[in-house]
Amino acid sequence: MKIGVFDSGVGGLTVAKALYESQLFSEIVYFGDTARVPYGSKDKNTIIRYSLEAVEFFKNFEIDLLIVACNTVSASALFQMREEAEFDVIGVIEAGVLAVKNSSAKLNENILVIGTETTIKSGLYQNLLKDRGFQSVEALATGLFVPVVEEGIFSGKLLNAVIEHYFQELENQPEHIILGCTHFPLIGDSIQKHFHNSPKLIHSGEAIVEHLKELYPYLSEKRTKIQFFASENPSGLKRVAESWGIG
Ligand code: DGL
Repeated sequence: MKIGVFDSGVGGLTVAKALYESQLFSEIVYFGDTARVPYGSKDKNTIIRYSLEAVEFFKNFEIDLLIVACNTVSASALFQMREEAEFDVIGVIEAGVLAVKNSSAKLNENILVIGTETTIKSGLYQNLLKDRGFQSVEALATGLFVPVVEEGIFSGKLLNAVIEHYFQELENQPEHIILGCTHFPLIGDSIQKHFHNSPKLIHSGEAIVEHLKELYPYLSEKRTKIQFFASENPSGLKRVAESWGIG
């Protein structure tokens, strides 16, 4: 199976890495819209427009399935993308919710969802979790984490100050945290350390791999070929991918 992976930029490589390492696919085509990142603070109509342009881009590659690594796009534009695409389109949000369910979380445990402003405002994670019976769901837009990670800051004083800023007013200690943004797995350790109870972290990349294994149980490949494209500075994106051991 040949798949596309779409993100607003470089952050989606966290998802591409999990997909690459899963050895489920013969080929992955990655596209990051690095010229227009971040999407998380943009208007929904703008995100839909950019995402439909990405669908057009992927039409050149004869992919079987497009994985939307970006939580913001998954929350805003999946329906419109599916209407336009001649391949299946799957987002990461449902997979993240299923991952909480599969991690044997109890329905009364505290679940915290963090993501960009647009993702949290869409209410999609919150609604899907409630539909599955989870009673204690808190959601927080933590957009400042995105530029911090973009700066290559994955630990230390500055990050801890931002973590403190966001989490000081939480009503409950979470038992599970959904890292509802491509960038957040890179600061997962620091986020987890903030809490005394070592909450379980849900990553979009791991979650989507598990979800795809359930959807397509026959998939398996020895070697995955991967190609990288970006709307700006593709060699920079490729360098990051290589430094993460992808490709
Ligand atoms: N990729 C986005 C997400 O997962 C984060 C970066 C952005 O705001 O574009 O929500």
